[in-house]
Formats: sequence, structure tokens, C-alpha cells
Amino acid sequence: MTTSTPTEQTTGGAEQTRHHIDLTETYAAHNYHPLPVVLASGEGAWVTDVEGRRFLDCLAGYSALNFGHGHPRLLARASEQLRRLTLTSRAFYNDQLGPFAQALAELTGKEMVLPMNSGAEAVETAIKVSRKWGYQVKGVGPGTAGIITMHGNFHGRTTTIVSFSDDDVATADYGPFTPGFVSVPYGDVEAVAAAIDDSTVAVLFEPIQGEGGVVVPPAGFLRALRELCTERNVLMVADEIQSGLARSGRTFACDHEDVVPDVYVLGKALGGGIMPVSAIAADRAVLEVVRPGTHGSTFGGNPLAAAIGHEVVLMLQSGEFQQRARVLGERLEAGLRTLLGSGLVGVRVRGLWAGVDVEPALLTGRQVCEGLMERGVLAKDTHGSTVRFAPPIVASEEDIDLLVTALQAVLEEALASAR
Ligand SMILES: Cc1ncc(COP(=O)(O)O)c(C=O)c1O
Repeated sequence: MTTSTPTEQTTGGAEQTRHHIDLTETYAAHNYHPLPVVLASGEGAWVTDVEGRRFLDCLAGYSALNFGHGHPRLLARASEQLRRLTLTSRAFYNDQLGPFAQALAELTGKEMVLPMNSGAEAVETAIKVSRKWGYQVKGVGPGTAGIITMHGNFHGRTTTIVSFSDDDVATADYGPFTPGFVSVPYGDVEAVAAAIDDSTVAVLFEPIQGEGGVVVPPAGFLRALRELCTERNVLMVADEIQSGLARSGRTFACDHEDVVPDVYVLGKALGGGIMPVSAIAADRAVLEVVRPGTHGSTFGGNPLAAAIGHEVVLMLQSGEFQQRARVLGERLEAGLRTLLGSGLVGVRVRGLWAGVDVEPALLTGRQVCEGLMERGVLAKDTHGSTVRFAPPIVASEEDIDLLVTALQAVLEEALASAR
């Protein structure tokens, strides 16, 4: 039997790529269908593969890399903490969690935070806290707490979370599912109002649906939802895991309508693209329902995660990244709009975050991404012929222009061969 080491080298460019793809496909479960590129390093908005080819990263780890690959400030803070203390568990206090929690509470305007790791764990936390708040504070009947969710949602992959997904691929053969959820059309406040009953404890929603294809709700929806939740004593729980932390051009996507939810659910960019760091933020009246032993995670709030998360919060304080996402996003939107009617049938942009719908008869989203890859741009399709673009916010104006030019070339080639 032969064994390989992580530094093992094979010869030849394309052979290296083949080698790593074969290893991955043989030994790692096939729960993803990656583009055939093997990345080896990254800096800022750019990544390099094992063949030495450079690509503009227009997925940015589904917005986990808002600050780009290897941001010097984040790397410095992480390496310093790596050498000092990485993990304590919450059986003991550590000197990083308190300052991080305070900074994140201040950024969100909330009184407390509860740190976890992955996004799905933070969503699970929000669900558990909402239910407990429902029983202990609102006073709903035992075992009846209901949560309203939205069609087309994506909140993660746990069994409970896929219980309210309407994506057949994500749910097939994973039942039985968790009860207690009712789903209504996204952006329809009247449907939410009609679905609320005496046992409703929360409305869980994405202020912009990322996986859905960067779907922005109708203007006024967030504000109307805020009013409704207040009026009916239901928690407004905003999953800002993908939309938050500067991606949309504001710190939170809810800021676009000056709305403050009862619970923020955060993840992805909170870990600076270095490690999974997630959290929920809420006021004491909500978060104090959690008592010792009732919820937790071995890694949640670990000192390395807290140090990185704290640095992320500090980086967001000046508004520099939010502003940059707005400016670059305007440039991206202007470029993408020129392609409407020339292969694109839909363009949705919020900050540096775009979803484009390609003429379905022309190309699938996957084919668009393959064509972009050949032109040095990495992106990810979502349903059907929709592709989303979320370059790191540290990208340059030239990078944004390159993305538009590459997409134009892919569409032109397809249009020419369709003629
Ligand atoms: C809005 C939203 N919520 C939750 C999640 C789940 O996060 P994770 O993959 O870290 O569990 C995602 C991931 O894409 C997301 O976009």
C-alpha cells in the first residue's frame, strides 16, 4: 500500500490537476460538484491553482472571504493568537471571547451574543432560542412553538434546517423532518401576517436570498415585516450569514431599510475566511433564556475564533469595506446591465453581490461557470441558469471590469454558436 503526504508533488501541470481531482473524488464523499480546478494559494481577490494559473475569485467562499484571501490584518491577528492560545472550551473563560462579544454586540446594537462555528449551527441556535423565548417569555403552549420561513430559503444543511427547505435536492431521503415550520412566499408580508397564529414565535428570513440567486425582496418588505413582528409579538430573525458584514454595501442588509431585527444570525465573513466563526446577537430579554447546560459547542467562542472575529468587527467599524462594496457594486451593475438582451435576461445587484439569469436556452449556469473558468474567472451557478458573483470586497476596479468582459465573451461565444 502506498501512502501520500500533503506535500507530495506529481509532475506536469494538467497531471497535478488530474491527480488531486482523482484523489478527492476517490476518498471524499461526492456532496459537491466542483469546477475542475485545484487551488493551491490565494492573495486578495486572486487564487492560483496547482498548475500556476491565476483566477479571479468571484465566489469568495460564498461571501466568507469578503476581506479577500490572506488579508494581512487578519493573518497577523490569527498568527499571534495561534501561538498564544487556540482552544479552551467554555468550561473556562478565555481572554478573547469577552472583548469579541462586546465588539460584536456593539456592531449589531444588541446586548449579547452567542458564539458558534458554522452558519447552520447559528441558525439552529436562533431556532432553539426563539422556541425557548416563545415558551418562557411569550407564553405559547408547551410543544406548539411555530416558526415562519420563506419559500426559496437557504439556511444550511442540518436535518432541522432542511425541514423547511423547498429544494428537493437538499431534502430527498433525509426525512422524517422536524415539525413546527410553515413557509410563505418570499417578500410577501401579507402572507406572513396570515400565517401568524397564537403559537408563532419567530419569522426566520434572509434579507437577501443568496443561494436563491441574490433575490432582493420588494422595497418596504423589511420595514413592513419589522412592524408586523412588533405588533404580533413575534421575533424577527434575520439570517445575515451571507448578506451581512459589508457584502450588500451596508454592514447588514437590513440596514437598507433602517430595520433592526430582534435576532441577527451571522457567520461566514465573521471568520475572516480563516475559520468558521458564527454567532447570533440579540437583547438580554431574548438571549437570557439560554442557561448553563441548555445549549453549546466545544469550539464555539474559542480564543482563536474570537480573536479573528474581533479583528473582523474592528475592520468593519470605519465603514471602508461597506463603502467599497457599494462603489464596486455600482460598477459591476453598470457592466452587467449592458449584457441584458445579449444573453442575460435578469440582473440583480446589492452592493458587491450580483445574481444574473442567463437565457435558459443558451447556457446552463454550470456552462457559464465553465466558460468563465477558461477565461480566468471563478464563479458558482445556483438554480438553473442563474450565476451569482460575489468577488472579495478588496477586488480592484480592473477586476470588476475583467469579470464583466469574461462574462460577455462567454455569452458572445454561445450566441455565435447558437446562430
Ligand atoms: C443565508 C445562509 N444561512 C446559513 C448558511 C449555512 O452556513 P454554513 O454553510 O456555514 O453552515 C448559509 C450558507 O451558504 C447561508 O447562505
